[in-house]
Amino acid sequence: MTRIAVLGAGKIGEALLAGLLAAGRSVDDLTFTERHPERAADLTSRLGVAAADVTTAAAKAEAVVVAVKPQDIAPVLAELKSAIRPGTLVVSLCAGLPTALFEGGLPEGTPVVRVMPNTPMLVGEAMSAISAGTHATDEHLATVEEMLGAVGRVVRVPESQQDAVTALSGSGPAYFFYLVEAMIDAGILLGLPRAVAADLIVQSAFGAARMLRESADHPVILREAVTSPAGTTIAAIRELERHGVRAALIDAIEAARDRSVELGRAAESR
Ligand SMILES: NC(=O)c1ccc[n+]([C@@H]2O[C@H](COP(=O)([O-])OP(=O)(O)OC[C@H]3O[C@@H](n4cnc5c(N)ncnc54)[C@H](OP(=O)(O)O)[C@@H]3O)[C@@H](O)[C@H]2O)c1
Repeated sequence: MTRIAVLGAGKIGEALLAGLLAAGRSVDDLTFTERHPERAADLTSRLGVAAADVTTAAAKAEAVVVAVKPQDIAPVLAELKSAIRPGTLVVSLCAGLPTALFEGGLPEGTPVVRVMPNTPMLVGEAMSAISAGTHATDEHLATVEEMLGAVGRVVRVPESQQDAVTALSGSGPAYFFYLVEAMIDAGILLGLPRAVAADLIVQSAFGAARMLRESADHPVILREAVTSPAGTTIAAIRELERHGVRAALIDAIEAARDRSVELGRAAESR
């Protein structure tokens, strides 16, 4: 069992700690750092995990998970540099920050794994993509897979694909929320009460997501099964095509990728 220190227990850090506990990790194997003592005390009372300062947390840990906002990284790296033991695995959840930034700020040879998670981690259904830095081995990647497997699914990608991952699954939940919002509006236009429209759409989204995950069929096949000749679904699909929804989604995700590249460059030049 790896002893894990989470630096920055905000939304994502807390979700990871809760997921690890739910997966059977002992509170004694976990610790976290937090800037606000009240939040630290609140987390300790709810989860039973003790808070520590960076030096104490890093000294005991075999894996240090960095979960502060990317703009807060500089002081954390500075503290970590003197506190970390040689060979301790550093796992970054910080969107857009390259492994090279960590390797440059930490002792020579520190293994770093970069992760792009997403917010469904809050309900144990994250999609996380992980990439090895220069000194991270297959074993380090396996450790991170096991850790993040407690809060969802994990895939390995080369670091060069992390901007695409950010655009697709990092921001992905927001696209689904946006679609659901629009579909609830449609229900209201058609005269349904908001709560009923929301129920209909949220359960439909949940059911469709389960079918997508559990069926071996391509999404096209699943859609065709609902699209009968001269029926209601094809009337709706024609409108979606006429309004260029498919092209809009492709352009939107490309724009998110471009923005991720821009933010990564800005982070490197800071
Ligand atoms: N939320 C998402 O959708 C999402 C998705 C993918 C990746 N991520 C990545 O996950 C990371 C965490 O995101 P989040 O949404 O969980 O952010 P968050 O809720 O703001 O959590 C970050 C926490 O770290 C604390 N912190 C900052 N500097 C610290 C320091 N020096 N020592 C100890 N604690 C410190 C912050 O305290 P303060 O409240 O004082 O700032 C805050 O509680 C980010 O790097 C983000 O890019 C997030």
